[in-house]
Amino acid sequence: MAADARLERFVAYEREKTRRAISASIPSVATLMDRSHYFDVEAIAHPVIEQFWGGPFHHSRADDSLEIPVTNLVFVQDANGNTGSEEPESLGGGGLDLMVYELASRVYVDAVIAGSATVGSPADPEGVVLSVWHPEGVDLRMHTFGKRRHPINVVATEQGDLFVEEGLVYNNPDVEVVILTGDRGGSRLAPRLEHRSWVHIERTGERPDLRRGFTILREKYGVAFASAVGGRRVATELLDLNLVHDLYLTTTPIVAVPPEPPTPFYLGDPLRLRQSLDLVVRKSAQSPGGEIYSEYHRVVSGEGRAGFRAA
Ligand SMILES: NC(=O)c1ccc[n+]([C@@H]2O[C@H](COP(=O)([O-])OP(=O)(O)OC[C@H]3O[C@@H](n4cnc5c(N)ncnc54)[C@H](OP(=O)(O)O)[C@@H]3O)[C@@H](O)[C@H]2O)c1
Repeated sequence: MAADARLERFVAYEREKTRRAISASIPSVATLMDRSHYFDVEAIAHPVIEQFWGGPFHHSRADDSLEIPVTNLVFVQDANGNTGSEEPESLGGGGLDLMVYELASRVYVDAVIAGSATVGSPADPEGVVLSVWHPEGVDLRMHTFGKRRHPINVVATEQGDLFVEEGLVYNNPDVEVVILTGDRGGSRLAPRLEHRSWVHIERTGERPDLRRGFTILREKYGVAFASAVGGRRVATELLDLNLVHDLYLTTTPIVAVPPEPPTPFYLGDPLRLRQSLDLVVRKSAQSPGGEIYSEYHRVVSGEGRAGFRAA
């Protein structure tokens, strides 16, 4: 496909994402708990955010002592805690979830990180571009936070079988892409990316190493803040490696078709996960199917805090 046609598809995608962001129905949100004053967190206060979140949106502060970005992890799960879905919007998070993951958690970050299976799949090779689409969010991002239009899109892959030709994210020079991979994935991808100077391959050793990848993002690409959107396999590694500082978790009232095996966002010991989370803010909103809950947790184990793997 010619470069012009690829860009046209991107423009159509952007138009649709913008339309959805503007027309998202935003339920009125109730604040059930707000412990933000106990934590050393930053508050984003802006009408476009307060309108759906019912107050400022909090996140961990920048930390110059860290060799990695300060990173949030964003998930929507159904009532049974399952997250696997080709279309996470089908899990029933509605406008509240859309605004958390495509606006508030992203508006201040330099990069958004995802596993290859979340960025594109055989059923959807065009895949996703991880950015902010609400016009007021774009304005806030660029003019208040001084960030570029699109965050760097970071894709984690071991095999390197990415949908480079079809994927929207790899075909717009305005979207810088960093691929975190190992030697095998790097060798397979290099010849396919020769004419895409805006897509960078970062080999982190023989096997991919996300911790090393995070230090490269910080040192080489200047990523101070990042947002990770999973899926669950990448999220589990990020949590196990203590690379996550903030968790934004939305739980919907619906029960999606039960996947086999189940798809919780953390595939390790759920008790260990619970013990590593410190609830800061809890909100709820009505949806046609019942109550939606959206929570902000600090991850006690994020680098610079107590260890996630600690016995
Ligand atoms: N509910 C939600 O909020 C939410 C959020 C995100 C995604 N999802 C859904 O979840 C599904 C995907 O989740 P998933 O767990 O199957 O996949 P995923 O975590 O998105 O991606 C897994 C892939 O990431 C790569 N990877 C994993 N660990 C790596 C490492 N250490 N270094 C480098 N690459 C690594 C591997 O890619 P290769 O195979 O290329 O080697 C692996 O196959 C999709 O259906 C998506 O729509 C839901």
